Amino acid sequence: MKDISDFKQNASDVINWIAEYYGHIETYPVKSVVKPRDIFNQLPSTPPQQGEDFKLLLEDFKNIIIPGMTHWQNPGFFAYFPANTSFPSVLGEILTAALGAQCMKWETSPAAAELEEMMMNWLKQMTGLPHNFHGVIQDTASTATLCAILTARESLSGFKINNNGFSGQQFRVYCSEEAHSSVEKAVKIAGIGSSNLVKIKTDAAFALIPEELEKAVLKDIDHGYAPLCVVAVLGTTGSTAVDPLEQISVIAKKFNMWLHIDAAYAGSALILPEYRWMIKGIENADSFVFNPHKWLFTNFDCSAYFVQSREKLLQTFRLVPEYLKTRTDGEVNDYSDWGIQLGRRFRALKLWFVLRSFGINGLQEKLRLHISLARFFADEITKTGNFKLMAPVNFGLVCFRYVREGSAGKEELDELNERLLHKVNDSGKIYLSHTRLNGEYTLRIQTNQTNVTAENIKEALRIIQDAVTGITHDHAC
Ligand SMILES: Cc1ncc(COP(=O)(O)O)c(C=O)c1O
Repeated sequence: MKDISDFKQNASDVINWIAEYYGHIETYPVKSVVKPRDIFNQLPSTPPQQGEDFKLLLEDFKNIIIPGMTHWQNPGFFAYFPANTSFPSVLGEILTAALGAQCMKWETSPAAAELEEMMMNWLKQMTGLPHNFHGVIQDTASTATLCAILTARESLSGFKINNNGFSGQQFRVYCSEEAHSSVEKAVKIAGIGSSNLVKIKTDAAFALIPEELEKAVLKDIDHGYAPLCVVAVLGTTGSTAVDPLEQISVIAKKFNMWLHIDAAYAGSALILPEYRWMIKGIENADSFVFNPHKWLFTNFDCSAYFVQSREKLLQTFRLVPEYLKTRTDGEVNDYSDWGIQLGRRFRALKLWFVLRSFGINGLQEKLRLHISLARFFADEITKTGNFKLMAPVNFGLVCFRYVREGSAGKEELDELNERLLHKVNDSGKIYLSHTRLNGEYTLRIQTNQTNVTAENIKEALRIIQDAVTGITHDHAC
């Protein structure tokens, strides 16, 4: 790009493309239909020697890249959990990119550090977290959970393992068998060993059974292990189960364990007063994470991590070599001391844009609509008589399974459900994902896409019903 006027022209082309994209997003196949290497094979195998014209780049973006994208912002995207965005957030990201600031220390961009502190305070108020919690933006919930387990490890070892390495401690970490794999990853990376992650049984609603937790801790103590941390999940990945925090917090306190709360998806629901029951007992928690990049309309990545003790967090991560010393050290928040990475993106800007543009009322309205759409889907799908619900509908997720095929056994139904999923997804119109609950293949539909409407849900119901006819017909042939 030659100069500012050239940049302006290209920027306007990009913005126009974005506007058109969102205007017609429902015409793209939600799930990319390309085959492995389709994109790779269209790319030149060597970089260009001379700079190329931006118009050519934009054309290749449209022709090569776009067909290889899954359109997460399409209201027909019902898979996984959302990574939803919104226009204010997109514009915030553009400005963050334009500023190109690396916000590792307060001094390297005071506004970034101070806006981050205020945004975390706003989120704290909006979600009803305790006043004495301190927040920091992490890239993902996985990183936040790793930070929690490392801080727990240091805190329990008197901050010695950071210096001396392990000296024979056999720590144990506890979570339910429905907790996210990021817990196991964190335990592995923190040097505790995956075999020291104890997965606790869940009840009929897939929530951790506190009595089983206490039993496991007592048994471990008997065998000479040191209980280190328990991770409670509010909104499990498979079915959005909510672990009973209050009872878990009592056990954590009794055995002096770190209590981390993973509310990656469902934490956003805490902006609704009717969901505050989930955090009864939070005053005894040590750390809490939820992802505005999942269900609060803020572009990936933006994960809000809160800790009760800022000092323990800093003591675990802070390291200030000569070249990073500043005159404000200790006086301000240098967020690179609050986690793993040194370099930091200016993520608070997009969050600020989102919170101000929607306002609390606007956000609450969206979330309540999404939850009501999940309930609507659940009612309608069960009315067909072909499906059963596999878990309670707690938020914006429905877990369901096709069950109507004469005397089909479990394996046969598993196979039919899997075929149904592929048939539905291959339509290109909607995209669902799956899990296993009680060992049974289960379809998942999440209704939290930013602009999803009742019409989109009705369309999903139609597509699923048509696919049932398709697979049962294939099956009979
Ligand atoms: C309960 C839960 N925890 C953690 C994660 C991981 O989130 P992230 O991608 O931010 O690391 C997920 C992802 O869906 C999740 O559902």
